Amino acid sequence: MNGLKSTLSPEVYEQVMNGDQEVINEIIALTKYFKASEGKKRELTAEQRKVLEKPVPTPLDSTDLKGLAEYIRSGKAKRIVTMAGAGISTACGIPDFRSEGGLYKTLKMEGLRQPEDIFTLDFFLDNPNPFYKLAPSLLPEKFHPSKTHYFIKLLEEKGLLLRHFTQNIDMLESIAHVNKDLVIHAHGCFDPCHCVKCHEEVTYEEFRKAALDGTVLKCKKCGGFIKPDIVFFGEGLPQVFFDHLDELEETDLLIVMGTSLTVHPFAGLVEFPPEQVPRVFINRDPAFTIEYNPDATDYEKYEYRSSLRFKFDNPENRRDLFLQGNCDEWVEKHT
Ligand SMILES: NC(=O)c1ccc[n+]([C@@H]2O[C@H](COP(=O)([O-])OP(=O)(O)OC[C@H]3O[C@@H](n4cnc5c(N)ncnc54)[C@H](O)[C@@H]3O)[C@@H](O)[C@H]2O)c1
Ligand SMILES: [Zn+2]
Repeated sequence: MNGLKSTLSPEVYEQVMNGDQEVINEIIALTKYFKASEGKKRELTAEQRKVLEKPVPTPLDSTDLKGLAEYIRSGKAKRIVTMAGAGISTACGIPDFRSEGGLYKTLKMEGLRQPEDIFTLDFFLDNPNPFYKLAPSLLPEKFHPSKTHYFIKLLEEKGLLLRHFTQNIDMLESIAHVNKDLVIHAHGCFDPCHCVKCHEEVTYEEFRKAALDGTVLKCKKCGGFIKPDIVFFGEGLPQVFFDHLDELEETDLLIVMGTSLTVHPFAGLVEFPPEQVPRVFINRDPAFTIEYNPDATDYEKYEYRSSLRFKFDNPENRRDLFLQGNCDEWVEKHT
């Protein structure tokens, strides 16, 4: 408020403090106008101009399946990194979070203020019951892998898979026999489990039994609640995730499947491969994109050029390929 006081004349300041809506609206409109014109006038530095004028690399002859197939056939894709989210497991009967029939829309349980609470550490420490109630429906052994899980296995068998980063906790990659050393569970998984207080390790089997019996498992040492090693909101990602980030800079093809790319830092992995590396996104909805505007100012064009988000609609784009629809259909048709 002090800043506002020194910016406005005493009269106008008093009007704002008295809640005069007309004056407040006028100030908002002026602020927006100045902000917009600032962006337009902004001059590029020599360094920024260099970035803007640098030729766009063209790794694919065309940004379609033909271009991708040629790239793979030419032997240029030997170190493929795959990234996956809940969308590769919806065909197995596991709902994702954010789709129409997803868990966030359908989950209604006593004690939850919002669906996210169920995977939030502070909430769990206070009340682990909703998580334990939901757990039996999420237990890994209930489900069979999808065609997309077997596609990841196929890449491994062909010696092309450098690493698979998954946000999923369903462990379906291991049921599809993908080499466990190649899979990074960025958000952890059910096995093993730990006490939230003293960190005593507990087997998945013990947790599973308790969850199926409808009881909350407590630590034999200190009485703390037992939680599977799934990363809850409010917890850091496992060290193994950070240990393998360098590989995204070494990959020659990134394939991203079934994720809304809204959870960070996972979503940011898309930005790691160098500019000449093709990125394929197979999903029902577009995500993590930056919109192309042919009428943008030079400064806005520079900002666009520097952005590492997907640029599907850029006329110069020769790296980002969006295959819209179900993962299983795409991988079945084209492998
Ligand atoms: N199977 C699981 O282990 C599971 C299930 C639900 C949520 N989660 C957790 O959800 C969190 C984050 O979100 P997310 O991005 O993985 O999921 P999300 O719910 O945010 O997004 C899923 C995305 O997949 C797309 N999608 C759904 N079914 C698809 C299909 N058959 N083919 C192609 N696309 C499809 C949707 O359009 C959506 O964009 C992660 O932390 C993950 O741990 C995991
Ligand atoms: Zn304990």
